[in-house]
Amino acid sequence: MDQIRIRGGRRLSGRIPISGAKNAALALMPAALLTDEPLTLRNLPRLADVDTCSHLLNQLGVSTHVHGARPDDFGRVVTLRAGRITSTTAAYDIVRKMRASVLVMGPLLAREGEAIVSRPGGCAIGNRPIDLHLKALEALGARIELEGGYVRARAPQGLRGARIVFPSVSVGATENALMAAVLAKGTTVIENAAREPEIADLARCLVAMGARISGIGTERLEIEGVGRLHGATFRVMPDRIETGSYACAAAITGGEVELVGAERASLGATLTVLEEGGVVVADTPDGLKVTRADGLRPVTVATAPYPGFPTDMQAQLMALMTLAEGASLITETIFENRFMHVPELVRMGADITVKGRSAMVRGVDRLMGAPVMATDLRASMSLVIAGLAARGETVVRRVYHLDRGYERLEEKLQALGADIERTSEDD
Ligand code: EPZ
Repeated sequence: MDQIRIRGGRRLSGRIPISGAKNAALALMPAALLTDEPLTLRNLPRLADVDTCSHLLNQLGVSTHVHGARPDDFGRVVTLRAGRITSTTAAYDIVRKMRASVLVMGPLLAREGEAIVSRPGGCAIGNRPIDLHLKALEALGARIELEGGYVRARAPQGLRGARIVFPSVSVGATENALMAAVLAKGTTVIENAAREPEIADLARCLVAMGARISGIGTERLEIEGVGRLHGATFRVMPDRIETGSYACAAAITGGEVELVGAERASLGATLTVLEEGGVVVADTPDGLKVTRADGLRPVTVATAPYPGFPTDMQAQLMALMTLAEGASLITETIFENRFMHVPELVRMGADITVKGRSAMVRGVDRLMGAPVMATDLRASMSLVIAGLAARGETVVRRVYHLDRGYERLEEKLQALGADIERTSEDD
């Protein structure tokens, strides 16, 4: 298995591109199932999760064509075409690898009237049920049966518009409901919809394909079902979590980094909290420039649905706060087990105490490099950020977690002057 070796202590400086958003791409790709015409996505990031999603769609009969990508390109242009759906089953072996596979359920139901999807099971950060997805699809007229670890959803007479009120906010359930509703007969209203920018990106793509959606970006979406959708060409939004992650990397090393293509508008509370912590973020003609005024300042923050501070930035912020001048209190309210980076950061000399859903992070003078283990995608990035500032060498094992969500991470960090390389474990 690959590992990443970092010799810390170098100030990062220079400019790197921000890639297309993983969590937008993983919803936009299944949208291709909604039409038999080609959907071309630009700025699609080269990520393991995007490849997994492509394989799943291929199994359903979707052709995927990558337009002439040069090896040093960031992002790709990919045309997906669901000319004919040849299967409506998303099998366990692929769903267990990537939970976002469940996002084929809504579009398959809308297009074919059937979706047989393995229940995703839990993952490292929590048990992650899909009850909210199923209730929404039932409200649209689907019959749901659970058998042998699979969900079988059927709507032989098609879906019909309904009023869906989510009892709690769910990104994926909102996306499944939205994609199911665009071809339903009649009007659907989704209340308490998640407002993550990736959902607005999906909605804008669906509108480009001929869907009728209003309230985009708000917690109340109204969808007027149409008979069919047509193809489109759509550019994936920049990744706000990758932006926040590299901002933490720049700040922890006291560097000066320009994030080309970064979009301030979609960052929400990420920016507010980082600026509270002493990070300085300035607009440039090409994106955002990140520096640090002087010392890092402690923050008190709880993760929350957008526009609150994102759970996907919690581990990266914690790494930054290990060197702040004072004590930070970071509370994780979305997932039940998203502090697995803590023991690894402590092994690097951080002073962190977890009590229930909160972590008290007392700033220390320095971190020490150490061999550490990645456990999930964002925890891995947290360890890389810490390793960039630590004295000595840090080796992060199981970096396949990183490859799920960060496009060519070590190349981007090398371009900023980091002493970082990817090796195989037995090196
Ligand atoms: C999306 O996951 C993201 N993944 C996650 O990013 C992100 O952490 C999460 O939203 C929250 O922002 C993608 O977009 C592919 P949820 P999702 O449904 O849709 C509970 C990353 O690192 N819930 O908003 O699965 C759930 O257990 C990944 O890029 C139910 O109880 O998140 C969680 O506690 C990790 N029942 C909370 O809601 C349901 O039916 C929020 O989950 C669905 C969710």
